[in-house]
Amino acid sequence: MDQAEKLRQIVQDLKQKRNARETRKARIITVTSGKGGVGKTSFSINCGIALNNMGYRVLIIDADFGLANIDVMLGIMPEYSLFHVIDGKKSIEDVITDGPCGIKFISGGSGIWELINLSSHELETIIRQFEGLDNIADIILIDTGAGVSEKILRMVLASNEVIIVTTPEPTAITDAYALVKSSLAMNRNVAFRLVVNRAENRQEAKIIMDNFVRVSAKFLNTKIDPLGYILYDDLIVKSTKQQKPFIIEHPKSHAAKQLNDIAYVLTSTSFESNSSKHSGIKGYIFHMMNFLRTRKI
Ligand SMILES: Nc1ncnc2c1ncn2[C@@H]1O[C@H](COP(=O)(O)OP(=O)(O)OP(=O)(O)O)[C@@H](O)[C@H]1O
Ligand SMILES: [Mg+2]
Repeated sequence: MDQAEKLRQIVQDLKQKRNARETRKARIITVTSGKGGVGKTSFSINCGIALNNMGYRVLIIDADFGLANIDVMLGIMPEYSLFHVIDGKKSIEDVITDGPCGIKFISGGSGIWELINLSSHELETIIRQFEGLDNIADIILIDTGAGVSEKILRMVLASNEVIIVTTPEPTAITDAYALVKSSLAMNRNVAFRLVVNRAENRQEAKIIMDNFVRVSAKFLNTKIDPLGYILYDDLIVKSTKQQKPFIIEHPKSHAAKQLNDIAYVLTSTSFESNSSKHSGIKGYIFHMMNFLRTRKI
């Protein structure tokens, strides 16, 4: 398929998807990792832009519990966060910030945990607000913190789709494996995709992906989808320092191409067409509240 044909195909697919919008829910994809600092936020932003360039409306929710990563990485300081929605001061639309190239983001996503303190009536009102996000985004990426903590496990378990990011470091790989293992022990319906970031070369990335897929199949009896890889690139470090997404700054770099390939695979798989599987943001919050109220991890 040549480039023009590929584009025509994408536009055609998008038209069909737009027509079915009333019944469609946003795809909720959680981006997580076992070890911190492997490139989740960088991946979420740049993959979000790649998806946006393909015509998908993308919203990123920064659900890290530490520093407000996305704000810092984009050099944009939003006035409001999810906390303002939960304490009733702002509507969900008010806390959506415009990022570069049409992506939108919400900071303070970790405020989602404040929902536990609300009465049923307040919760209902907030969930109705969240539902509105299905109309403004085709894909919602949830950028989490790292590790096998209770909160992260709950965010992972609430979503149908999870992208797990690892680097070639052995500790990052074993921590990623531990996260998959813990999640699967709680819920076998989660679909995991693997991204190897900061690999030295294609061979290294491929070996890691193959091993991860093989070991997960053998010992966890689960099929991990190898989504793709991004090689180590100094341009990414440079762009991060300049608070500019590298996919915009260096669109012709290898890393940008690898990111575009990942975005393409992410939207060409059976998940995308099987929209009945998506329960949207309401389903996501609902699952999370269920875990909050009924289960102890
Ligand atoms: N492919 C890459 N090549 C080189 N540097 C990279 C690459 N991907 C990410 N980085 C750099 O790695 C650092 C960590 O990235 P990032 O903040 O996205 O990680 P994270 O997983 O979100 O971290 P945290 O767990 O703290 O949220 C950043 O400085 C980023 O520029
Ligand atoms: Mg981060």
